[in-house]
Amino acid sequence: MSQSDVPMIDVRNISKHFGSVIALSDVSMNVYPGEVMCLLGDNGAGKSTLIKALSGVHKPTKGAYFVEGKPVNFESPRDALAAGIATVYQDLSMIPLMSIARNFFLGSEPTKGSGLFKRFDVRLADRVAREEMQKMGIDIRDPSQVVGTLSGGERQSVAIARAVYFGAKALILDEPTAALGVKQAGTVLRYIAQSRAKGIAVIFITHNPHHAYAVGDRFTILKRGRTLGTFTKEEMPREEMVRMMSGADELEALTHELKEFEHSDQMAADVRSTMIDQQLSGTVGKGGT
Ligand SMILES: Nc1ncnc2c1ncn2[C@@H]1O[C@H](COP(=O)(O)OP(=O)(O)OP(=O)(O)O)[C@@H](O)[C@H]1O
Ligand SMILES: [Mg+2]
Repeated sequence: MSQSDVPMIDVRNISKHFGSVIALSDVSMNVYPGEVMCLLGDNGAGKSTLIKALSGVHKPTKGAYFVEGKPVNFESPRDALAAGIATVYQDLSMIPLMSIARNFFLGSEPTKGSGLFKRFDVRLADRVAREEMQKMGIDIRDPSQVVGTLSGGERQSVAIARAVYFGAKALILDEPTAALGVKQAGTVLRYIAQSRAKGIAVIFITHNPHHAYAVGDRFTILKRGRTLGTFTKEEMPREEMVRMMSGADELEALTHELKEFEHSDQMAADVRSTMIDQQLSGTVGKGGT
């Protein structure tokens, strides 16, 4: 769990408005070094908006933001990255036609030679990319393999390994396991746990209660742009989380609602057939006179 008294990331009463849409309202959340904070909530709850505010994509409309105890005011994702905050999006910022090693060093390419002879140091890049992936337990046979041919889980792993290598102190993952099978999701969850063991503060967004429970230390729940609070694992038993996130209550309400539809459909059908009967008998009556 937490190794430090000062949160790596700490936001207080953050709000974000898009015109008349209030995407976030008065949200407070923090994450400590060596901790995994899961951000949970339905579609449209404001999870992505919150992490975009943390990673410098959106400027909050209101609220305070502290990194390692100091107030910050990021103008761009570059500022957030310079402060040690790396964000991995579901639709990764990688170039499918470039090699693993190229993607690993995208934007910070190692070079050799100088002046006109300066060029990308392929050997160094290949070696580092392979070593760093190996540290995370992934054996890439060929760092020159293009990223487009990797599986979803492997691609996520390259993105996470890259963030860790470049010294991220905070790692923000927006639904990294959403499109993955059981085995690949396991790989990503293992990296999350490894990053925590290295003392990195991790914010992990997921819709899967089992993934959240497997690696989360604390859970912040968003609903319609507001926070319902932050809970520790002790405060939230697994069954309660599964029930909450699988929408068991909503499903029950929906079942009732569907029954109501059946009922009202039946009533409408009854009314329709009575009206038809009446009309028919009226017509017959008229025709008969
Ligand atoms: N750039 C934008 N302009 C206007 N409205 C936006 C913008 N970005 C987000 N919103 C709105 O803010 C609300 C929160 O969206 P957000 O993407 O943060 O939800 P989310 O919790 O990440 O949902 P999901 O689980 O579906 O990814 C939504 O109602 C969305 O329509
Ligand atoms: Mg989202």
